[in-house]
This record gives sequence, structure tokens and C-alpha cells, in this order.
Amino acid sequence: MNQPPRHLLQIEGLHPPQIAAMLNVAESYVLLNRSGKTQRDLLRGRTLINLFFEDSTRTRTSFELAGKRLGADVINMSVSTSSVNKGETLLDTAATLNAMHCDLLVVRHDQSGAPALLAQKVDAAVINAGDGTHEHPTQALLDALTIRRRRGRLEGLVVAICGDILHSRVARSNIHLLTTMGSQVRVIGPPTLIPPEAERLGVTVFHDMQRGLEGADIVMALRLQKERMARGLVPSAREFFRFYGLDAAKLAWAKPDALVMHPGPMNRGVEIDSAVADDPAHSVIREQVEMGVAVRMAVLDLLSRRSRRND
Ligand code: CP
Repeated sequence: MNQPPRHLLQIEGLHPPQIAAMLNVAESYVLLNRSGKTQRDLLRGRTLINLFFEDSTRTRTSFELAGKRLGADVINMSVSTSSVNKGETLLDTAATLNAMHCDLLVVRHDQSGAPALLAQKVDAAVINAGDGTHEHPTQALLDALTIRRRRGRLEGLVVAICGDILHSRVARSNIHLLTTMGSQVRVIGPPTLIPPEAERLGVTVFHDMQRGLEGADIVMALRLQKERMARGLVPSAREFFRFYGLDAAKLAWAKPDALVMHPGPMNRGVEIDSAVADDPAHSVIREQVEMGVAVRMAVLDLLSRRSRRND
């Protein structure tokens, strides 16, 4: 049951022991990173390709760092200067990379399901680095690691995820992970930004920030994803901030020691106020970024164990 999956395409369907095992391995990489050491023998001779069809700062950089700290040869393929621009399809791109014998393929794509499609076509282990509005599994793992390190557990915690849930792959992965691990998850947002199937995912839906935040241990603010909105789903950023932007007054409705999280990139003054984002008494946003490297090292380590055993 705690066997690592062959690919990491989504959190949905993973069992608690599999998630716990990934977090435990990631924990050891937090300590390694803090000691300033690396483990370059682990993936020596392995090739990791970062294939990002959408912009990224944190995910792409941390996969690159993670691969290098474990000794892999890391290639960042720039899609904007690749033959994708000449009309090459996703599957032909995959076949090309497959012919180069890549071991680990990290994929971000604006279409939900693109990494799963690639996983059927390549020999490499495929890691979903965010696909459309579907999932962003390593983000949920790093969020869980951040919470677990701060609170010592995930079970029984009340986690409020606020804002644009409808377009958020981060929200989906977090909902699957946190409910699987026994947290109580609430989603808070205007009706236009809550997916119709939300309650079927095991969360409680709130449209009122005060009611949703009362008693919350963790408050996770999400970016308003205007690029995925086909039409105006909120009247204006100013209106959104007034009702759903996380500021000190709204945070006071949560538990006094509530942790504030945001996956980044942040739109300050839209979904979160700078005073809250930068408040060291509550904000763990920088720590999330640190955990991102450790989690990605753990995922590369675990997914390559199968092929390392066959060497
Ligand atoms: N959280 C996240 O996925 O950030 P990037 O888009 O910068 O990778």
C-alpha cells in the first residue's frame, strides 16, 4: 500500500500510507538541504527533463534544484523556443524526448490530462507539475509537509481554502490530500468561483468569510486566476478583496495561531493583503517554497527507485 506510484499524475487515488511515505522521505531532504549537503550519487547518470508549456517560477526552479542536488542531468526545455512553435504535437514531442531516453519527465500544461496522456506514451516516469484546472500534486505535498512540520499532524485540523477554487488545481490536489489524511477542509468563495461538485469532494462550502474562517487552524489563500476565466466571474479585483481578500481583520476570525499559506504567485491586494502575507507570526509562505525543493527531491527519489532497482 505504501509502494510509490510509477508516475505522479494526481493525488486523487493515493492511499494515506503512500502520502505519509512521501512526506517522510521529504522530511529527510529538508534536513539534508538545511545541512548544505547534497546526495549527488543518487540520480547520477539519470536525465530529468522539465517540460513546461505554462509559466512557472517556483515549480520549475525547485525541480531543477532537486534534480541537481540528487546528481541528475537536468534539461529545462523552453517550449517557447521549441518545435512546438512550429506545430509539433504534444505526442510527437513526447516521442522525441522518449527517443533520447529521459528517465524523469516533469510536465506542466494548460490542458487537464496532458501529463496522463504523455505517461501512456513514454518510458520515463512522468510527474504532473500542474495540468489545467485538474491537479498540482507536488504543491499539495509541499503544503502538507509545511503544515505537518508546524502542527505535527494533518488529522483533525480545520483547513480553510479561500478564493478562486473553481480554476485551482492547487485546491483540488489539496482537497484530495487533506481529506485523505483526515483534515476537515472548508472552501470559501463567491458562488461563481466554487465548483458545482465541491461538496462531493468531501469539503464544506462557505460563501461568507467570517463563517468559513471561524475556528480554522490553517488559512490558504488562492490566486484569482483571471487567465482561466472565460468571462467575468467577479465584479472587480477591488470588490473581491473587500469580501474575500485575506487581511488582518478577516484573519482574526480564524484561530489566534492560524497559519497563513499561499501557493504563489501572489496578487497582493487582491486575494491577500501584504501585511498578512509578510507577517512572520502567521505566514509560512516562504517555508512552503523551501518545502517545495525537499518534496520534489523526495518525488524524484521515490519514482526512480523502480528503475534504480533494475540497474
Ligand atoms: N505554486 C506554483 O505552482 O508556482 P509557480 O507557478 O511559480 O510554479
